[in-house]
Amino acid sequence: MDNERDLGLKARSILLDNDRGDYTVPTADLYPFQWNWDSAFVALGWAEFDNDRAWREIEVLFDAQWPSGMVPHIVFWTDAATYFPGPDVWQAGQSPASSGISQPPVVATIVRHLASTDPERAAALIKPLDQWHQWWHSARDAYDLGVIAIAHPWESGRDNLPDWDPALAGLDTSRVGTYQRRDTDLVDAGMRPHKADYDRYLALVQFGVDNRWDDELIGRNNPFLVADPAISAVLLRAERDLAALMHDNGLDTGPVEARIARLAEGYERFWNPDVGAYCAFDVRSGVHADAATSASFLAPYGGVTNHLDETVDLLRAWAEKTRFLVPSFDPRDDRYEPDRYWRGPIWAVVNYMIATGLADQGAGDWAERIRISTRDLIATGGFAESFNPEVGSGTGGKSFSWTAAMWLSWAGANAA
Ligand code: GLC
Repeated sequence: MDNERDLGLKARSILLDNDRGDYTVPTADLYPFQWNWDSAFVALGWAEFDNDRAWREIEVLFDAQWPSGMVPHIVFWTDAATYFPGPDVWQAGQSPASSGISQPPVVATIVRHLASTDPERAAALIKPLDQWHQWWHSARDAYDLGVIAIAHPWESGRDNLPDWDPALAGLDTSRVGTYQRRDTDLVDAGMRPHKADYDRYLALVQFGVDNRWDDELIGRNNPFLVADPAISAVLLRAERDLAALMHDNGLDTGPVEARIARLAEGYERFWNPDVGAYCAFDVRSGVHADAATSASFLAPYGGVTNHLDETVDLLRAWAEKTRFLVPSFDPRDDRYEPDRYWRGPIWAVVNYMIATGLADQGAGDWAERIRISTRDLIATGGFAESFNPEVGSGTGGKSFSWTAAMWLSWAGANAA
């Protein structure tokens, strides 16, 4: 096992290697562009040794903001043959080229975190952040439920969760045709989504293209519309942080406070009494997912504490089942796969959010346990994309930027 100092140096060198000037690729071949929430977390890593670079990471993401306020999940700053589906498939009609969907809005929280290092740069981001947050409410809560829905599994950032299976199952894939995946050239196919899932992902992209990525049409008619407890918790926290930034800059926080109240009230819709956890649900049918996921532990991160005791009890039950915390999917469920994308493996950034929320709400012992687990995972499996919860081996891509950033800013700090 490498020692702490070596791991710190290695983490820095990963960020430097993955740096493309103004943005950092998540990992060189598998994800060769700028990814939205990756950049937010990666900024925390940069901030440990290069503040200016941390701010650039975020500012450049907003150079790709759409007129609607949406901030895309991928920005295709360059061409890259190692990735599919590229800009020609998304046909987003924007410059710079981008995907047509968004990703969990963690940026405002990161900006607030960094604000004291450069209050002026933080202030300059308030308006774009406000526009993006408003977009989530108008474009992804068209039915006015006080919850945020995703229009594509990739919008959740937790691409391949069993939560999305029922809504994906009914999709018409007859027009998808043949295509060449690139991910399975680079990573063991046993760790990546099945072809049937990929067909459905592409059918949804096609729907967006057919509707010219029109928010109104997608928000109401998209064949896949699932309310996501993680995006909703992330946005709740981000709205609170945006309100704080506005307050510090003498701006009116009234409209943001109203949005916070809507989301806080709507959050209870995620509670699934049959599972005893916050679960995703299909916006149109109202049917909940039938198992807990790592997102079920994010309510405290959003400042929602109504079921805090049950949430900690659930974490305790999972901790008895796996050596490392927090698996992306319930390790007691038949569908749990410890090596396959978002059906079991652990992500360091999700752990960071869960631990931050638990620490805020008085469960500091569990927060520390999750941090130690993350530190041990990185020491065992390296700076992988994700980790097997049983043995700690790295899964998915290698030399991953956000895993390195989590080491530098959180998991490796005060390491014993
Ligand atoms: C995968 C993850 C997503 C992440 C991207 C780049 O698609 O599911 O959350 O942003 O990889 O790391």
